[in-house]
Order: sequence, then C-alpha cells, then structure tokens
Amino acid sequence: MSKVLYIKADAKIEGESRTVRIADSFIESYKKNNPEDEIIELDLYESGIQFLPKGKVMEMRGAGMNDKNNPLLKFACQFAEADKYVIAEPIWNLGIPAILKAYIDSVAIGGITFRYTEKGPVGLCLNKKAINIITRGGDYSSEFKSSLEMADKYLRNIFGFMGITDFTSIAVDRLDMITEDTEALLNKAMEQARETALAF
Ligand SMILES: Cc1cc2nc3c(=O)[nH]c(=O)nc-3n(C[C@H](O)[C@H](O)[C@H](O)COP(=O)(O)O)c2cc1C
Repeated sequence: MSKVLYIKADAKIEGESRTVRIADSFIESYKKNNPEDEIIELDLYESGIQFLPKGKVMEMRGAGMNDKNNPLLKFACQFAEADKYVIAEPIWNLGIPAILKAYIDSVAIGGITFRYTEKGPVGLCLNKKAINIITRGGDYSSEFKSSLEMADKYLRNIFGFMGITDFTSIAVDRLDMITEDTEALLNKAMEQARETALAF
C-alpha cells in the first residue's frame, strides 16, 4: 500500500481552479486503479503553512526525524513519510505560487528530507515518485519561452535535491489565450491525466 500526498497550491475556490480540475481527474483515476492506497490531500491554503518563523530557522534546519513532535517539522515529516506526490500548481509570474515555496521551505529540512555529507547534500527521499500537474496561461513550447519557465523546472530540481528523481509533469499551456477553446484544452488534459494515473 502506498501513501500518496496530493499537494494543492491553488488560490481559487473549490471548482474554479483549472489545475485542480485536471489534478482531481488524475487522483480519481488513480484511486480507482489503486483502491488500497492512502491519499492524503493537502490544500496549502487550508493547511496553516507559514513562512519560516523568524528566530527558528536554524533550529529547524538542524532537525531530524527524532524531532517529529516539533510542530515546525510536521510538514517535513509528513512529506518524508509519503511514497508518491501529486502536485497541482498554476504558474505564477514565471515561478511557483509563494505558498508552495513556503511549503518547500518547510519540507526541505536537513536530517529529514536530505542530509549533508562530506561530498555535499544528498536526498533522503529515495524510491519515490512525483508528478507535477501545472497549468499556464501562456505558451512555453518555444526554446526561448521554455528558458523563462521556473515553476515546473524549480519543482523538478528541488524534488531531485530531496532524492525524488522520478519526476514527471503534465503541463497544460495556453489556458489564457483568447483564441483557444479553453474547455477543449481542459478536457484533453483531464483525459491525459486519467491515462497517466493508470501507470503512476
Ligand atoms: C498571480 C498570477 C500570475 C500568473 N503568472 C503567469 C505567468 O507567469 N505565466 C503564465 O503563463 N500564466 C500566468 N498566470 C496564469 C495562470 O497560470 C493560468 O491562468 C492558470 O491556468 C491558472 O490556473 P488555475 O485556474 O488553477 O488557478 C498567472 C496567474 C496569476 C493569478
């Protein structure tokens, strides 16, 4: 039985987020295919996530799994205990939404999700996999636009830093282009999500 952490980083209310609609399709299909697995839904806007607290940063960074009861470390411990990750994020200003960055700052903790060695930091989250479901208003298919994109790219790098190198993405572009049939793009993406979930 796997533990799947479903991380939602969207500010819109229930039913309005295109990203969450696609990610929900993925989760629905995954559940059908893996009824035994535990899905833990973490809506970051409901989670009480905060910026790293002033004066506590060094205490957190030197922590370990032994400090599991420290409330500052609850997100890192929950993250480390998951086997699979499904992330729903829209791109915001070429990067990830600030709340998702605050979450990453709370989970990338030495001794829990990575550790320092003589050769530098190494990830501790091994044999896990992640999928990033990302939507974007624009089109990032050209080499130039793709070089500006720091949302999917950042998440891939930071997950890799924590040891999660099996990282795939469903990236849905052009959702804010007035020439596009947005509903058709979404339906296609939801179908892709349902299919991808079968092999996740
Ligand atoms: C604050 C903000 C910043 C955005 N920045 C970008 C951006 O840099 N590039 C882009 O392609 N779309 C950008 N968008 C558009 C969203 O990524 C796009 O509409 C996305 O599909 C929204 O997903 P949602 O319906 O799940 O909220 C931005 C939207 C918001 C609200």
